[in-house]
Amino acid sequence: MPFEPMPQDVLNGVSTDYYDAQPVGLMDRWQPMTDWADARLAAKLEPYCKVNVGRIGPRVLGRDRAGRGLSGINMASQDYLSLGSHPKLLAAAAAAARRFGVHSAGSPAQMGLTTLATSLEERIAEFLSLADATVFSTGWGAGYGAIRTLVREGDHVLIDVLANACLHEAASASGALVHRFSHCSTEAVAARLDWLRENEPFAGILVVTEGVFSMNSDMPDLAALQAICRRHDATLCVDVAHDLGVMGETGRGVIEMQGMTGQIDVVMGSFSKAFASNGGFVASNHPALKLALRYACSTHTLTNALSPVQAAVVLAALDIVESAEGAERRARLMDNSLRLRDGLTKGGFQVLGQPSAIVPVGLGRHSRARRLTADVLAHGALVNLVEHPVVARNGCRWQLQIMADHSADDIDAFVAIAEAARMQMEPYSLIEAAS
Ligand SMILES: Cc1ncc(COP(=O)(O)O)c(C=O)c1O
Repeated sequence: MPFEPMPQDVLNGVSTDYYDAQPVGLMDRWQPMTDWADARLAAKLEPYCKVNVGRIGPRVLGRDRAGRGLSGINMASQDYLSLGSHPKLLAAAAAAARRFGVHSAGSPAQMGLTTLATSLEERIAEFLSLADATVFSTGWGAGYGAIRTLVREGDHVLIDVLANACLHEAASASGALVHRFSHCSTEAVAARLDWLRENEPFAGILVVTEGVFSMNSDMPDLAALQAICRRHDATLCVDVAHDLGVMGETGRGVIEMQGMTGQIDVVMGSFSKAFASNGGFVASNHPALKLALRYACSTHTLTNALSPVQAAVVLAALDIVESAEGAERRARLMDNSLRLRDGLTKGGFQVLGQPSAIVPVGLGRHSRARRLTADVLAHGALVNLVEHPVVARNGCRWQLQIMADHSADDIDAFVAIAEAARMQMEPYSLIEAAS
């Protein structure tokens, strides 16, 4: 399919260019962005808001936002261990629904907890070798809530520039002074902590990072960061959303890989990547954090608890993660990640970071990234395109997400589709680069 000429704005504009702050009507301000997104959709250059019409798996059926059919190899779902339709999880969900109904019907600080949710809290704490865990109804709420509970005006937050939005938004809203440090830079943290402690010996300081960064698939040196935090009376918080269950010999993630199990001050994570459910948690060894989160954390205290069905699903997923089957699924996942990274690199793509469940692929300019994405979607490969403002302008990438159940054929077929799209795109890239 030759690439058709397209209006420059749907090829090169980004959503933030189309927000109009002028109209007095607050909703009217979003009309230009809506019109622009619809124009992109009409030109088949908008890959967002895809809808599944069946179960998640290595191959899926779906629809785009206009209702047009999509189908093919699925690199766009977060179900790293392929547990979304595992018979044990389906059975656990059905049994929980029969016993508890499907609803938590209250906040955890009132009457929303079930014995499934409290068992899950105990299991997560045990799995992480930490004293306590608190379960949230979303991973986003866990990250946001942890930071908002820990710091306030007069405190300081040092946060990796590429940390998830839930962490950045919480830091900004907390009233603490926010210091954004260069991605994965232990040296930057050490230097800032030295300076801060000299000037503010009694301030509370929180350092925030992730196990695996989802846009780059890279990892900080957690042992070094924790040691620096201890030396400076600072608290380290690590978001393990993308590595817990998935990496490390026993599934305890990058913390395990770096020999730090049970030694990180605050560990927070999400169930939505490896544990086949909404939800998240915050865990630590400190005896005061658990009740602080129960009583004084808006994204926990003032919202309905995780449903009994979701708690049962995560407990069943944890059983698998801790079993030989879990180890086998992690091994298949990692084989798939390595195969995909290798195939795409040989196919001329820029593959970023280290092997994990995420394979980020640098695509560059918006126009190129959108055309490549449209082409692979049309040829039977489902991908997620990440654009500005999530990444730098013209620093687009695919955030490919691998599953244990992808076969070698799925991976090879995806690489072939991507490579064909890239070859087709090359003359346009040269013309655009020259103009
Ligand atoms: C690093 C990280 N933390 C937290 C979250 C939020 O988790 P959830 O989507 O389960 O609410 C995400 C979501 O993508 C994430 O990537």
